[in-house]
This record gives sequence, C-alpha cells and structure tokens, in this order.
Amino acid sequence: MTVLKNAALAAEIGKVAEVAGYLWQKGWAERNGGNITVNVTDAVDDEIRALPAISEPRPVGKRLPRLEGCWFYCKGTGRRMRDLARDPMSNGSLIRILPDCAHYEIVADKPVAPTSELPSHLAVHDWLLAKGSPYRASLHTHPIELVALTHSRKWMEKDAATKMLWSMIPETRAFCPRGLGMVPYLLPSSVELAEATIRTLEEDYDVVMWEKHGVFAVEEDIISAFDQVDVLNKAAQIYIAARGMGFEPEGMSEAQMRELGEAFHLPK
Ligand code: 13P
Ligand code: ZN
Repeated sequence: MTVLKNAALAAEIGKVAEVAGYLWQKGWAERNGGNITVNVTDAVDDEIRALPAISEPRPVGKRLPRLEGCWFYCKGTGRRMRDLARDPMSNGSLIRILPDCAHYEIVADKPVAPTSELPSHLAVHDWLLAKGSPYRASLHTHPIELVALTHSRKWMEKDAATKMLWSMIPETRAFCPRGLGMVPYLLPSSVELAEATIRTLEEDYDVVMWEKHGVFAVEEDIISAFDQVDVLNKAAQIYIAARGMGFEPEGMSEAQMRELGEAFHLPK
C-alpha cells in the first residue's frame, strides 16, 4: 500500500519528483547531492494518521515546538535526485513529528532514512510556522554558478551578489525579490548550519547560499522554491558569459532597478 493513493499528498510529492528531475537535468544534483522537504500536514487524512510507524523514534537534534503534529515528505539520505524523480516513495519517506517535538518516526512507504540536512530543514519549517508564513517547501541544491560565486570574498559581502544578479536581467529582481543571503561556511548537516540559515533567512531572504556548498530556498511549494534558484542561477550564468566574452557586464542602472521596484511593488 502506498500513501500516494491520497490525491492531495500525491500532488505534493509529484511536484517534488518533477523538481528532482529538473535538478538532475541542470547538473545541480551529482550523486546524492541536494535535498527537499515539504510540510504536507494539510494533505494528511485520518487514514494516514492512523498508520503505525515503520521505524523507531529518532532524534531531530533539537526541540522544535511548532512542529507538533506535523508531517513531512523528505528526500532520503544518500538517495539520488534522478532516482527520486522516477520513484519518490523508494527514495524518500513520509515522517511524523512526535508529541515531544524532538523526535520523528517514519510512517510510509518504506523505512528510508531522511536527508542528513534534516536539522536545517526542520528548524526552518519550525521557524516558518512560528512567523505565520504560508511557505511549506524547502530546497537544498548545488547550482554550479551560484556555488562558484561563494568562493570569492567579494561576492560573500552582504548583498554584493544580490545587486549584481538583479542587474543582469530584469526578471531576477522581479522573481527573486528578496535577493540572496549569504551564510559563511559551516559543517554540512550541523545544527550550527541550521541556526545560521535561520539567522540569514530572518534578514528577509527566501534564498540563502551555504558558502562553498549550495543554496537553501524556501517557498509556498517546491516548484516555486526551484524557480527562485533557477532565476538566480540564470543571472549568474549571464554574468559568467559576459566575463567569458572578455568584459565586465554593465548591469542595469540604479535608476532602472528603482523603476522596476516601483512598477512591480517589490519588497526591497
Ligand atoms: P543527503 O543525501 O543526506 O540528502 O545529503 C545531500 C547533501 O547535499 C548534503 O548537503
Ligand atoms: Zn549539499
């Protein structure tokens, strides 16, 4: 039996599989690179709620009080995005948070252990719920050009990359209107990385870079989270293409950027 017979859940997990395919096609998901979690609590019905656990309780790493009664679809640790695209319930699993808000158990379909970046994903979901955000999806991936930018002190300066990327093509400012936050290098999967990610998202970003590692994005659903990263990485590719042609790109002017902000009522 698969929980995918629940149509609402199948729709959300179907979007995850679609995005996993894009990540692989883009070359952002080498081996098991990247992870996705989606808060699917609203899609879970009484039949799923009554299912027994298929794993022992496991620690989340921290008590996350807003996650009481929450359910998540999570990519499995060590699993490939290209495999998840074909078969999401063999390369990811449905988990529920236990009443102590510090442990989870796997419920379906198979005992696939969730991503090693679960501390960051769940801490971010807890923070999103605490601030009443409608965002339910989080994406971590390794987009080549954006990761390359983080190897330079210049682009790690607050909002230096944002300004450059916004100025490459008007859509970047319009469709990634909060820009790109920067998180200094921290050990993958650590609680410290989770805390630094939240501190940076709190500065009013939807997308943050993990220095020399990857990107972490939040949005209402996983398609929109992917879109924000795609738009930013496209801008980075335009910058690199211009540099490859032997010149520093001019970028849109401050006045053009201001005009865009007013026309589209952008938040920054
Ligand atoms: P997982 O396979 O555990 O999801 O890890 C992939 C990754 O990108 C870690 O940062
Ligand atoms: Zn990673």
